[in-house]
Amino acid sequence: MGEIRSDDAPVVLVVDDTAANLGLVVETLEAEGLRAAVARDGQEALRRAEIVKPDLILLDVIMPGLDGFQTCRALKENPVTRDIPVIFMTSLSQTEDKINGFRVGAMDFVTKPLQMEEVAVRVQTHLKLRALQRTQQEQNVRLEEEIKTRIRAQDALLEVLGAVKHVSNAIAHDLRTPLAELRSRLEILMLGLKKKGDDETLNQLEVAVADVDRVIGIFNALLRLAEIDAGVRRSGFIEADLTAIVSDAVEFYQPVAELRGISLSLHLRKQGKLMAVVDPLLMAQAIGNLIDNALKFAQEGGEVAVSLDESSDSIEITVADDGPGIPVAERSKVTERFYRGDRSRGTPGVGLGLALVKAVATLHQGTLVFADNNPGLAATMTIRRAE
Ligand SMILES: Nc1ncnc2c1ncn2[C@@H]1O[C@H](COP(=O)(O)OP(=O)(O)OP(=O)(O)O)[C@@H](O)[C@H]1O
Ligand SMILES: [Mg+2]
Repeated sequence: MGEIRSDDAPVVLVVDDTAANLGLVVETLEAEGLRAAVARDGQEALRRAEIVKPDLILLDVIMPGLDGFQTCRALKENPVTRDIPVIFMTSLSQTEDKINGFRVGAMDFVTKPLQMEEVAVRVQTHLKLRALQRTQQEQNVRLEEEIKTRIRAQDALLEVLGAVKHVSNAIAHDLRTPLAELRSRLEILMLGLKKKGDDETLNQLEVAVADVDRVIGIFNALLRLAEIDAGVRRSGFIEADLTAIVSDAVEFYQPVAELRGISLSLHLRKQGKLMAVVDPLLMAQAIGNLIDNALKFAQEGGEVAVSLDESSDSIEITVADDGPGIPVAERSKVTERFYRGDRSRGTPGVGLGLALVKAVATLHQGTLVFADNNPGLAATMTIRRAE
């Protein structure tokens, strides 16, 4: 409560038809470091309020012309002055008048004869409230704007992502044929070399074919993802035996496991067939991708366990290893296309494996969930059993 008034000090409009009162109140306000504007009747109050836009209005009730209540009502009807808090100065202490006052929009009352200390305290309190309210309103506006900006940015990003996806699908599609041609040309060359007995060049060509195969593999994975996205892949659904699919996958990877001294084992909850309506090729690929990862990240000479479990409405395939696992914070990212963790540097791969597993799980109305295998990773693909 300093006594120095600054130009940005709050402005209080005092409305009273009694000059003596006006003077007293203005003096008190200025002593509080506030700026005061005055009006001698209701009409003048309305005009001044609109021009000055005060932070608070001290309004006398009994005045010639428009009385305080009528003035207040008019202030509240005008959008420019509607939000300015009004404190009535009244000698009428009957409850009825107070109720009337609140009804027309008053914030508070001070009773005449005025206790200047009380006026000062009430004015300061309401100014503080008003300032708080304003800050909050400004913050809300800012927050709303920020939300709008973010939504716009997100939309733009989604659009770009969609476009990138479209382009990468188109590239994969267009390059598949020339790649296949390149591969068969290399094979014809290899046949010729075999006849000539040129083993050195033959070996080099074999590496080149393996390179081409890797590129074809990546394009195939991308195209399969695109097909799943587009819903084209639904046509591949037939009733198939999951026990056979999982066993075949495990058998297929057995040589790779042996090469790394890893024991790759299969655990079936139930012996015998486990029939379900699935896309068998995609299921095989997804399970293969999980085993491929497990073998890649498991410890040298470690263990990888594949298990198949079922309930009445779902089938669970879990591949567990004893490698470094995936940190919780990274688990949602590893299923993005081309995402590879820091620890996978130095291992082969492009980061499409889990994107495909996730897509296949989703296609089968299922999920892909990662858990700790203490140590290592347990990746579980759950699919819904179609009726
Ligand atoms: N079993 C696992 N243990 C530890 N980290 C894993 C495991 N499986 C996946 N990851 C992490 O998730 C990343 C993404 O896996 P994803 O299978 O999609 O790609 P990739 O194996 O690197 O390449 P690709 O499968 O295309 O050959 C990996 O690079 C690795 O960081
Ligand atoms: Mg992989």
